[in-house]
Amino acid sequence: MDKIAIIGSGRVGEAVAHLLAQKSLAKDVLLVDVRPGIAQGVALDIQECAPLFGFDTRLQGSTDLATIVDSDIVVITAGRPRQPGMSRMDVLDENNRILLNIAEGVRQYAAQAIVIVVSNPVDILTYQLWRHTGFAKHRVIGQAGVLDAARMASFVAFETGFSVKNISAMVLGGHGDSMVPMTRYTCINGVPIAHFLDDEKIASIVKRTREGGAEILALKQTSSAYDAPGAAIVEMIEAIHYDRKRLLPCVALLEGEYGQHDIAAGVPVVLGAKGVERVVELDLEPVEKDAFNTSLARLREDIKVITGCTKDSERG
Ligand code: 2OP
Repeated sequence: MDKIAIIGSGRVGEAVAHLLAQKSLAKDVLLVDVRPGIAQGVALDIQECAPLFGFDTRLQGSTDLATIVDSDIVVITAGRPRQPGMSRMDVLDENNRILLNIAEGVRQYAAQAIVIVVSNPVDILTYQLWRHTGFAKHRVIGQAGVLDAARMASFVAFETGFSVKNISAMVLGGHGDSMVPMTRYTCINGVPIAHFLDDEKIASIVKRTREGGAEILALKQTSSAYDAPGAAIVEMIEAIHYDRKRLLPCVALLEGEYGQHDIAAGVPVVLGAKGVERVVELDLEPVEKDAFNTSLARLREDIKVITGCTKDSERG
């Protein structure tokens, strides 16, 4: 991969840039931030690790969105972070405004890129970016499920004592209170967790997963999570870079899958060189289907709040 652009040079953007360089996933990593000097400073700081870690990736920083030209992947982390006690929805208006500006730049300067949206509320902003750019749906992806599933897998490891290497978790729906951690599809080397944990323990893992972002924010007070979000984004980029066809939960545009249309939500997808190559439809039990549909109904309400600010574009 030649060039990956990261828009927003806060802690998540910095974590992503650092991991991309260390893993040599691109020849060029560009950081963009509206605040003068920030992106350049972050880029230089990481660049100076190169002799220590031995990577050849070139890092650059800029305030100019036009510099994302020719990027293969654009990662959007820009936006107002949550403060303790705030929900992801509390930053909707401001982050929607920021996202619309960025979407215009991406449409203008990186029209062939795969775009990974990270800014919150991620499901709503992923939908908004798709709608505003007119990009084909496979090239617009939101990061939420990889992080949420990693959190869930961590909590399963805490409770069972098994190695995380054997644990795979699955999370559907919105990245918020209505998130749907899928306990039936969360396994330890293929064995569902219900074999090892009672209902009460499983319920506490579900709750902790839903509140995973808020838990970190309440502890740190001055910052949301960034290490695990950064690692989750890089896991997605790796799947695209190596065309791995990984089955990962991501925010994807739905046009008929799960009986849903015109919405972006967390679902299992096949992630490869083209981006979202396929949405995988799981068989849901009635209670799971209800939780999923409730989660998406809440996303639809939020979408209604913001779609007054956007326009339909041609898909391409
Ligand atoms: C989280 O869950 C920031 O939404 C992000 O930590």
